[in-house]
Amino acid sequence: MNRAFRAKHETRMKHNLDILDNLCAGIMVLDKALCVTALNASAQALLETSESRCIGLHARKLVLHSKEWLADLEQVLANNSPLARRSMSLVLLSGQDIHVDLIITPLTGNSDETGLLVELQGVDRLLKISRDENLLHAQETTRAAIRGLAHEIKNPLGGVRGAAQLLARELPDEHLAEYTRVIIREADRLRDLVDRLLGPNQQLNLQQLNIHEILEHVRNLIVAETGNRATITGDYDPSLPELPGDRTQLTQAVLNIMRNALQAAETPDSCKITLRSRPQRQFTIGNKRHRLVCKIDIIDNGPGVPEEMLHAIFAPMVTGRPDGTGLGLSIAQSIINRHGGLVECESNPGHTRFTIYLPMDEQNA
Ligand SMILES: Nc1ncnc2c1ncn2[C@@H]1O[C@H](COP(=O)(O)OP(=O)(O)OP(=O)(O)O)[C@@H](O)[C@H]1O
Ligand SMILES: [Mg+2]
Repeated sequence: MNRAFRAKHETRMKHNLDILDNLCAGIMVLDKALCVTALNASAQALLETSESRCIGLHARKLVLHSKEWLADLEQVLANNSPLARRSMSLVLLSGQDIHVDLIITPLTGNSDETGLLVELQGVDRLLKISRDENLLHAQETTRAAIRGLAHEIKNPLGGVRGAAQLLARELPDEHLAEYTRVIIREADRLRDLVDRLLGPNQQLNLQQLNIHEILEHVRNLIVAETGNRATITGDYDPSLPELPGDRTQLTQAVLNIMRNALQAAETPDSCKITLRSRPQRQFTIGNKRHRLVCKIDIIDNGPGVPEEMLHAIFAPMVTGRPDGTGLGLSIAQSIINRHGGLVECESNPGHTRFTIYLPMDEQNA
């Protein structure tokens, strides 16, 4: 092969790989021993894995309870004819159950290499994308209504407090001052609530930051809050590049989610939280597809979010705690949305996972 031809061939190969990585469908190639030889970005995202983890791995080790999945792969290999399955359930190594449409085709090309081509389309993910888009709109509308209401309350509240202070000075009798003190104290309490309803500053102070520094900072805060009794494990992917974000606000978002995990635990000693970071390629948030997002899981072993509340926990003022204001998650979601990202939750008793997705491929404001 002459040099010019080889260079052209390599460019074409690279171009083909780029095409594969930009496909929405997951594509995986297995050799005839059913070991992975290639998988594109969508397949990695769907199976929650990376190329480095699973090249050379047997298909049996990609999912839990792999009997049906293996039987299909072996059947195609034995019969040398393709097979399609609709909405097959696959249990990922994390325990998460996903549904995929599957096409398995025997690979017979010009080369001697035989094997299988597996096309995977995540059915859940497609449902989620449209749900996310509706969810993002609905949450933004609710937040705007609440912010409007909070403003309306804040102005007269200042007047009430000021008038109570003036009245206190004019009171002839000291024991009546207790009433004005009550008015001032309650007005202050309401002002704090209204400030939380208004949420953090709308303007983001963006800078390039290392997300692991934020996670470690929050981890130290929570450990200190529990007097070193909660167990918090960090499982970070150090290859994640820096991302544009507002340090204070991102810290607030992670803190709100972690504090909930702590509050849900029966005792601080029984509380186990895992913080996990991973890159995720080709991921859609709302109607926008990102080349690379940072995925942060905050997983706790507490009793879980009550099922009847799960669909509403990101809405403001929804709480399951007697002393809760129901604003923590709404604020966290709002902060992450403003970074162009999304927070999701999946909860079962003993395993609750909040996932933050933050785009890494562009500036968000
Ligand atoms: N990790 C978790 N485990 C179990 N339940 C949770 C978890 N995270 C959130 N929840 C439930 O979701 C509700 C809403 O959480 P959110 O942080 O928005 O409000 P809050 O904690 O009640 O009050 P605030 O954060 O404003 O003090 C909680 O009251 C709790 O019932
Ligand atoms: Mg909270």
